[in-house]
Amino acid sequence: MKRLVSGIKPTGEPTLGNYIGALRQFVNLQNELPDTEIFVFIADLHAITTPQDKQKLKKRIREIAALYIACGLDPERVTLFIQSEVMEHAVLGYIMESTAYIGEMERMTQYKDKKRKQTEGIRTSLLTYPALMAADILLYDATVVPVGEDQRQHLELTRDLANRFNNMYGETFVVPEAYTPKVGARIKSLTEPTKKMDKSSENPKSYILLQDDLNAAKNKIRSAVTDSDSKIKFDEKNKPGISNLLMIYAALTDRSIKDIEDQYIGSTYQAFKEDLANIVYDTLKPIQEKFNEILKSKELDEILDKGREKASYIARRKMSKVYKRIGLGR
Ligand code: TYM
Repeated sequence: MKRLVSGIKPTGEPTLGNYIGALRQFVNLQNELPDTEIFVFIADLHAITTPQDKQKLKKRIREIAALYIACGLDPERVTLFIQSEVMEHAVLGYIMESTAYIGEMERMTQYKDKKRKQTEGIRTSLLTYPALMAADILLYDATVVPVGEDQRQHLELTRDLANRFNNMYGETFVVPEAYTPKVGARIKSLTEPTKKMDKSSENPKSYILLQDDLNAAKNKIRSAVTDSDSKIKFDEKNKPGISNLLMIYAALTDRSIKDIEDQYIGSTYQAFKEDLANIVYDTLKPIQEKFNEILKSKELDEILDKGREKASYIARRKMSKVYKRIGLGR
């Protein structure tokens, strides 16, 4: 059985980058891979690698769950659950820490970036986080893991850990493949288009939140940084701003960049941005409407309960195999 597994951390509010790099892929793959079981979760244990406000965390966990469905995941087709409700994630996370080397963790780019920004009070879990992420994936024998570019290195580590464990203890884990979208694996900031679009940025104009006021979202596209040239041409090195907008356009319309470039030959940045602003508006509007409906419904808890049961069943069986392989317990 093929299985897709992926998750999103409930820190900050999800951005258009999360949508294009991850959420939209989950929905596309749900339709494109009819023979693949789909497991998506809210990675709340990952959120506490940095300090979180209790009330906000609770609220965001539910919001991400609602958002998955609002973006088009079919609760009949997908197992949707909250990571911390399936205890085996933490246990296998520890076993992955006992499979990984500290040097591997210290080499992770995301850890190095975060450590640079946060000089004091760095939690141990910020370093060991990729071990928990490996556990999230290996627990379910995932064959495919859709992620944005920034998570690829963690996926490589997951593959190394799976292989290492299998070599040490005998065949136990499926070695997963990362799946990154052809266009939009790394959506950039609208104000500094060489950097990733990131919800933790201090400038709210640099990102579009899926929950942004729709007119504010349009204005962010209109005021996105572009170069002084006026050609609508994809050239990430010399024209990162317009290239990023072309990527967003292509990802949201499922069209090729070349096709869009052709459409705008001789046009202006202003006209192009206005069209893109409308595309963003049309993408976010139905998601926001559905989101508000689901958040209020009882259905959400039923979906999460069912998801927890199904995920727990698989996770428990996997852990009992892992214990046997290692020689833990009686
Ligand atoms: P997180 O919550 O930071 O991001 C969720 C997903 O969104 C993608 N993403 C982007 N894609 C394109 N452009 C961007 N600007 C952009 N920003 C974020 C991320 O690559 C990710 O796919 N560690 C993960 C959550 C996680 C996970 C897992 C994912 C925990 N366990 C197991 C897959 C499998 C994270 O922090 O993602």
